[in-house]
Amino acid sequence: MVPARPGVAVPETASWLEIDRATIVANARALAAKAAPAALCAVVKSNAYGHGMVPVAQALADAQIPGLRLGVFTIEEAFGLRGHGISLPIFVVGPVGRENLAEAAAENIELAMLDERDCEAFAAARVAAHLKVESGTNRFGVAAARAPQALERCEQLGLRLTGLYSHLANAEDIDKPFALQQLDALKRVAGAAKSRPMLHIAASAAAMMWPEMRLDMVRCGIAIYGAWPSPAVEAVMAGEDPSFVLRPALRWFAPIVQIRDAHPGETVGYGRTFAVTRESKIAVLAVGYDDGLPRAAGEGRMRVRIGDARAPIVGRIAMNTCVIDVTDVAPWPAPGDIVEFEIEPLARAAGTINYEVLARLPEHLQRRYL
Ligand SMILES: Cc1ncc(COP(=O)(O)O)c(C=O)c1O
Repeated sequence: MVPARPGVAVPETASWLEIDRATIVANARALAAKAAPAALCAVVKSNAYGHGMVPVAQALADAQIPGLRLGVFTIEEAFGLRGHGISLPIFVVGPVGRENLAEAAAENIELAMLDERDCEAFAAARVAAHLKVESGTNRFGVAAARAPQALERCEQLGLRLTGLYSHLANAEDIDKPFALQQLDALKRVAGAAKSRPMLHIAASAAAMMWPEMRLDMVRCGIAIYGAWPSPAVEAVMAGEDPSFVLRPALRWFAPIVQIRDAHPGETVGYGRTFAVTRESKIAVLAVGYDDGLPRAAGEGRMRVRIGDARAPIVGRIAMNTCVIDVTDVAPWPAPGDIVEFEIEPLARAAGTINYEVLARLPEHLQRRYL
């Protein structure tokens, strides 16, 4: 769906997201308290996991959480935050082109140094850097074995080394032995440093579960938004610290646009995958995979909420529509009644993770902030 032009109302048939910024702030405060004295880096990349980067960053900035940083993936996101008057420290975890180094330094934006060949350019631009030690994901970063030399070279060149960090490969699956190996690799590199940069390795899962991983800073994304990194992490935390709560900050609502009668022998949607076998009431919604509703969640795998009842999405989810069988909902809903898509059940139904469902909520969805 094309975003509404300024002055043109979003159609009243469209779905919308309701986002509670006070809940995001409360989650951030809870995480900051848990991680203290480590500082909190609130990860607001990918449009704040669908929640809206600027409004979320503004709420976090207003909350005045001591030591707070914001984490983004691209320099464009960082410039966007600065452009909206966000003055909190910002850390860019993704790769940044050399053409942007001078402006990053001028805007006081910290960058990840993901490749030792960037030493000269980063030092020359006087940009503040966090050197990434690659210790287990084989993605960006300087291999742990080579990191001490890279560090020495950076120090010789006078690089502003703000941080030294790594990223855990499997904390969400509670793979603590591997996390400890990664921590050890980072600490060995840190031992070779002449300066004392901030050390960090934990994202939400490790920050919540494992105190020894908190170091000087934790980088939390998913938990800020009140979602758990995995059901396994949720179970560990429920056992270890039942008083620690995260509250989901986002809800996704859509109005029923049409109610139709469907008769035995008819089918619903593309591919005719849902055959009507009884006199049925069918609700049609103007929400499809273009709106971030995973197509894999269709064909009976997902039940949406209608008041206190639940009803299945039947047939295939299309680009702009989906269909719900409301025959068993009493009383039958009417056009204009509101349906809710819940993120965790959606992720499960689609065979994916809450991160993906949230990050794919597109820009064009109307976001209503509480
Ligand atoms: C380098 C880095 N740190 C922290 C995070 C935040 O992870 P989580 O959302 O699991 O807290 C991410 C997210 O992908 C990341 O890439």
